[in-house]
Amino acid sequence: MPEVKLGLQDVVIDNSEICSIDGERGILTYRGYDIKDLAANSTFEEVVYLLWYGRLPHRTELDELTQQLVENRPVAPEIIELMKRLPPPQHPMETLRTVVSALSLYDPEAEDISTEANRRKALRLTGQMGTIVAAFGRIRDGKEPVEPDPKLSFAANFLYMLSGSVPKPEDAHWFDVALVLHADHSFNASTFAARVTASTLSDMHSAITSAIGTLKGPLHGGANEQVMRMLLDIGSEDKAEDYIHSLLAQKKKVMGFGHRVYHTEDPRAWVLRRMSEELGRGAGQPKWFDMSLKIEQLMIREKNINANVDFYSASAYYVLGIPVDLYPMIFAVSRISGWTAHVLEQYAHNRLIRPLADYTGPTNRKYVPIDRR
Ligand SMILES: CC(C)(COP(=O)(O)OP(=O)(O)OC[C@H]1O[C@@H](n2cnc3c(N)ncnc32)[C@H](O)[C@@H]1OP(=O)(O)O)[C@@H](O)C(=O)NCCC(=O)NCCS
Repeated sequence: MPEVKLGLQDVVIDNSEICSIDGERGILTYRGYDIKDLAANSTFEEVVYLLWYGRLPHRTELDELTQQLVENRPVAPEIIELMKRLPPPQHPMETLRTVVSALSLYDPEAEDISTEANRRKALRLTGQMGTIVAAFGRIRDGKEPVEPDPKLSFAANFLYMLSGSVPKPEDAHWFDVALVLHADHSFNASTFAARVTASTLSDMHSAITSAIGTLKGPLHGGANEQVMRMLLDIGSEDKAEDYIHSLLAQKKKVMGFGHRVYHTEDPRAWVLRRMSEELGRGAGQPKWFDMSLKIEQLMIREKNINANVDFYSASAYYVLGIPVDLYPMIFAVSRISGWTAHVLEQYAHNRLIRPLADYTGPTNRKYVPIDRR
């Protein structure tokens, strides 16, 4: 009998040089650099270089990549027009999935999967993702999109395009840290979906569209939004414990907790906890952090389940003024760097990804004509 590994749990399906996770010790590295080290010292642009090229850049290399990302921030006017014409989605990720797919129709290299073309498309997609998300946030509120500002960093420019005002340096700094932390996470579900699509030698836009559709689910990139909705629903710290007890009694999942790979603290949550606290206290809104801390303590005490990346990012984004339903999109603004790095790696050593299923359905059935069924 073949052994069935539901959810591909613990199945190693390929080598990768991009990202490692030690789920027992809670260590995450990009290309061998500890995520805590990168969060403390690096920038998102530098991490993008690291993911794509396998090493940290020299100053001129970083300047060049930063400039290329800036040049690739604008999207075709037709794309903005399309976003204005599309009906309001039931969830913003529907629009992101549709618009990123549509980008390929305006990309002259859409069907070219050579390494050089794929590197250029990775740049374009990474430059454009933030512009699309910010434009969506404004268009659906009846506002005009804000043109990217080439003088601002990737992180600061995104917050600027979303709100229309240049963010405070500490807000831009913490958002940059959040982008660093979300940039890659090995063969997570959306990255795996991108690699499966690339493994058929389909194109990069198709691979990224698959990834966005996968990220959308509440068990993956949709969790941070659900965390904030839960915090808003709880309303105040004194109600937090009863609320969580009631969820657990109903055998419901508490969003932002648990992980397939980490059996200890997710190192990203360790950084994001401080982000949530500092931003919350700095903005005079400590209640979301205080409530989150109480929930985390309860979950560890009673279920021995740790917070994941989505738990503290929720309250941090809220204090930054990011609309709650855009949280999964923010994940994509950063993760596009990791997705594209993985797609490049998949093409470089490609083998079609095609697992098996153990068939458990009926057998030996004889076809019966429709009128005799
Ligand atoms: C991330 C996640 C999908 C991992 O799932 P998984 O590896 O398939 O693990 P399971 O869902 O089978 O959970 C294993 C056990 O822990 C419990 N558990 C896991 N996450 C839990 C949570 N967030 N709240 C309450 N219980 C949880 C499950 O109920 C299950 O208990 P049981 O064995 O008594 O049935 C899961 O932890 C989850 O749904 N978390 C909430 C969503 C989330 O935050 N996603 C973002 C991930 S970064």
